[in-house]
Amino acid sequence: MNFKEALNIEDLHAVARRRLPRIAYEFLAGGVEEGVTLAANRAAFQRVRFLPRTLVDVSGRSQKTAVFDKSFDCPFGIAPTGAAGLYCFEADVALARAARRMNVPFVLSTASFVAMERVAREAGGTLWFQLYMSKDLGTAERLATRALEAGFEALVLTTDIPVAGNREYNRRNRFEVPFRLSAGNMLDGLLHPRWLAGVFLRTLAASGVPRFQNMDVNAGGRIISPTLTQFRMRREALNWEDFAWLRRLWPKKLLVKGILTVEDAQLAAQHGADGIFVSNHGGRQLDGAPAPIEVLPQIADAVGERLAVMADSGFRRGSDIVKALALGADMVFLGRAPLYGAAAGGEEGVVRALDILKLEVERVMALIGCDSIEKLGPEYLHFDDGPRVEAPPAVSEVRRMKAEG
Ligand SMILES: Cc1cc2nc3c(=O)[nH]c(=O)nc-3n(C[C@H](O)[C@H](O)[C@H](O)COP(=O)(O)O)c2cc1C
Repeated sequence: MNFKEALNIEDLHAVARRRLPRIAYEFLAGGVEEGVTLAANRAAFQRVRFLPRTLVDVSGRSQKTAVFDKSFDCPFGIAPTGAAGLYCFEADVALARAARRMNVPFVLSTASFVAMERVAREAGGTLWFQLYMSKDLGTAERLATRALEAGFEALVLTTDIPVAGNREYNRRNRFEVPFRLSAGNMLDGLLHPRWLAGVFLRTLAASGVPRFQNMDVNAGGRIISPTLTQFRMRREALNWEDFAWLRRLWPKKLLVKGILTVEDAQLAAQHGADGIFVSNHGGRQLDGAPAPIEVLPQIADAVGERLAVMADSGFRRGSDIVKALALGADMVFLGRAPLYGAAAGGEEGVVRALDILKLEVERVMALIGCDSIEKLGPEYLHFDDGPRVEAPPAVSEVRRMKAEG
């Protein structure tokens, strides 16, 4: 099968899996530890079903979606993915171009292999920049200033990565940036000649060993392009005061990515955020975190009027997207789906992934009898009430009393 024959995102995933060496495939598809959250992200959708309305004229249906006063052709965008250049040649440009062609937003990762200025120049479209910030505020300031000058319209601060998630496959595969070639990885590369020639060697020839192009760290007064380990330093010390500092610095839209509780959503609003991403990082950080759509209704209820509420993690079907919108999300973002497309067919593969989802959203809207995104709400949904774990209401009070003896 090639990407043109793919009928759904899982078809693209299957092509990607065949084409990629293990080190790249596992970094893309993997979760953390037992994969509980990775699985929950998919399973949660099955517990929400549709209550379709019938004999509704849906011939004029539209999935146009407005976010921050801009109109997009679909209710979804492309989430930031670091090291995307492992999946096709200059994937950051390919993803951004595909997003522009489909008129959806693209979020460029701090950990991209193509510099943000080049992505802006060569792709255009609606570009947001995802920031990994450390306690070294000088680095954050330099990145934000570059993003502003390059014309990025929003900054997305990812906060669910105070320390790296436990991705054991990365350690087994010796995944590092800049890349180091081990005997195992070389052999695996040779077994995937299309990837080796079309992605790895092509990147090597064009710009050298793949490395992060946006990151820099202040190493004793010297600005250097860091290794992964260096960049992660001191991220765990961040707090809401640092966010407030960023708010004062960044004049455009500012979002927090990695919110899973009502309390944090409210703190984001209080500290001047314009939006949030309800996200568990695609099940790649804390194993055991809830699926976004399990917490989305309460969060949207609490802050939906004040903030733009985005959702990501686990979206593979148009029906998943429609469910999240009906539960209060303003827009859905996709991490792996476009990368499966990129690995299967470069920019055209990404367009294919987005087009599949667009068609699926349109079909679901017709089948539930809803002709516009604004009209979507929980009245279109039926909830399968499986067993739920509810914390006893006074749990924190009891803990405090115990601590006081
Ligand atoms: C390969 C890969 C790299 C990622 N890199 C980043 C990143 O650099 N910054 C970030 O905020 N999120 C990153 N994410 C998380 C995505 O932005 C998004 O939250 C997640 O992929 C959504 O889940 P999904 O892949 O099931 O759609 C990454 C995800 C993947 C799959």
